[in-house]
Amino acid sequence: MFPVARPRRLRRTAAIRDMVRETSLDARDFVYPLFVRPGQGVRNEISSMPGNYHFSVDRLIEEVASAWEDGVRSVILFGLPSKKDETGSEAYDDEAAVQSAVRALKQSLPDLVVITDVCLCEYTSHGHCGVVKEGTVLNDVTLELLARVAVSHAKAGADMVAPSDMMDGRVGAIREALDDVDCPEVSILSYAAKYASAFYGPFREAAGSAPQFGDRRSYQMDPANAEEALLEVGLDLEEGADIVMVKPALAYLDVVRRVRESYHVPIAAYNVSGEYAMLVAAADNGWIDRERAILETLTSIKRAGADIILTYHAREAARLLR
Ligand code: PBG
Repeated sequence: MFPVARPRRLRRTAAIRDMVRETSLDARDFVYPLFVRPGQGVRNEISSMPGNYHFSVDRLIEEVASAWEDGVRSVILFGLPSKKDETGSEAYDDEAAVQSAVRALKQSLPDLVVITDVCLCEYTSHGHCGVVKEGTVLNDVTLELLARVAVSHAKAGADMVAPSDMMDGRVGAIREALDDVDCPEVSILSYAAKYASAFYGPFREAAGSAPQFGDRRSYQMDPANAEEALLEVGLDLEEGADIVMVKPALAYLDVVRRVRESYHVPIAAYNVSGEYAMLVAAADNGWIDRERAILETLTSIKRAGADIILTYHAREAARLLR
């Protein structure tokens, strides 16, 4: 009790604060999300996500090589197709942008961890994450397509595939398909507890993946539910997920903490596009200190219990931590 107890003693100097700090950030925990599209020489800034770009494969390689120099060791790729159709067939085209990017990245940076987002919404004309019939997103038919996407990414050389669709049973279907084509070493990072969130707004503009009718509430989780996140994570682990993710991160730090306390596997959290856009917009207006806000945000996600953070700040934060 005061005056014996004086917590300020351990805040007196920077070296003492460094010594007693409980949470530390490490660039090796960051995954850098990138958007790849067909073409050559393309580097177009995404208006809703300043500082992020649509890259063609050649320019993507340059960006990732620079990010590697900054200390980034892992990327997750999202693809933009040259054409969309009902079943998102370009998602499982071996010659599409993502598959080409995986091959090129693995060749130029063999030690880079290459993760691919496995979903159909960027590739379907209706913008939903699965096959649609009479206005309903069908679950089981979609699994076959997702498995084809994952296999196509694995054959290109991806280290991990990350299904983000929220269909039931997709982790098991993907695991089985990967093993069938002799890719037992490819890991699955599942978007296990993915919420139907307003914070994906900027991404949908970036990926051109906004649903053309309805919304994603019949497959993504209700923001009000946390117990259900534990169910989702448990099911994905039973089906063979190697890493489980909570998404978004900031409005769901309690969920990250609960998953941390319930399961003994690596946990990822996705610091999503809306979280990025809010911070950048406030900083651009001079309302918050950009660098401090980035590091504080990432620290909070780590402190909540995430081992791995997917973040559009990855490259900048890695530079700040050097
Ligand atoms: C695709 C997908 C989305 C995100 C990652 N994968 C969008 C969505 O579900 O609508 C969001 C990423 C972000 O907002 O940064 N299913």
